[in-house]
Amino acid sequence: KRPIITVVGSINMDLVTESETFPKPGETLLGRHFSTFPGGKGANQAVAAARLGAEVRMIGCVGDDAFGKELTDTIANEQIDTDAILVQAEKTGIASICLAEGDNQIIVVPGANHALLPEHIKAHEDLIRTSDLVLVQLEIPAQTVDAAVETAHTYGVPVIVNPAPIQALSSTIRSFATYLTPNEHEAAVLKKEHNDEELHKKCIVTQGKEGVSYPAANGQQSEIPGFSVDAIDTTGAGDTFNGALAVALGHGSPLDEACVFASAAAALAVTKKGAQTGMPHLNDVTRFLKDNGTSV
Ligand code: RIB
Ligand code: NA
Repeated sequence: KRPIITVVGSINMDLVTESETFPKPGETLLGRHFSTFPGGKGANQAVAAARLGAEVRMIGCVGDDAFGKELTDTIANEQIDTDAILVQAEKTGIASICLAEGDNQIIVVPGANHALLPEHIKAHEDLIRTSDLVLVQLEIPAQTVDAAVETAHTYGVPVIVNPAPIQALSSTIRSFATYLTPNEHEAAVLKKEHNDEELHKKCIVTQGKEGVSYPAANGQQSEIPGFSVDAIDTTGAGDTFNGALAVALGHGSPLDEACVFASAAAALAVTKKGAQTGMPHLNDVTRFLKDNGTSV
């Protein structure tokens, strides 16, 4: 059976420039290349989960503009249910992404994503109630995140909170999230912000090519080594990890296997430009795991 996953989150157009170096304040540079890619952590995670075989529903908000229409079409083309994507008289969210020096710098302007309110979660709580798993990130209003997490908890549906972009976590998230998926930087901030042993036991920490650290059954953190690939664009790697993790856990896989599967999916995603472009399908991940002598 295909796991049913509801993603509550952001939908952005990524405006990506490539240049040799990053501009300094006040400096103008000539860039090499410009492209637009569908993005937003919510949409990215939804696409990752759909490509890996889940039945996905997206709860989000776009503006009444060309980007909003294009992004909704892209999501629909991945066989994701877009009925709960609200259209508001705002500008669709964008991310201005500079690629340079083998790294990236990102500014996200939420726009319509900030018009996704708790009422909208309430109106679509049936989607959450009938899901195997819910995925949320922090690019939508904090009270909307809380509403989604609380609704999932009420109906006994596991919920993964990807704490990105990082901010202090509400008590709702801290009590009711099943897992948190910070990267190593976000994990360091959480450690500083919350002196909460229980919270850290829910953290699956992604560490880029260093792999993943996850809470093992014995209460200790266990490590899974990373897969080595030639990274072209790491934008959306974390999102691919989250989408894949949701699919594996939705299938009932144990956490260690789910983390291996998710790491493999994320490794494949960084070998292509654009957050969603390189996201693998299920057979790509299966083949990659086999080629790397791992099977889950
Ligand atoms: O996680 C990557 C995403 O973060 C990008 O697609 C961009 O839209 C930002 O939201
Ligand atoms: Na990519």
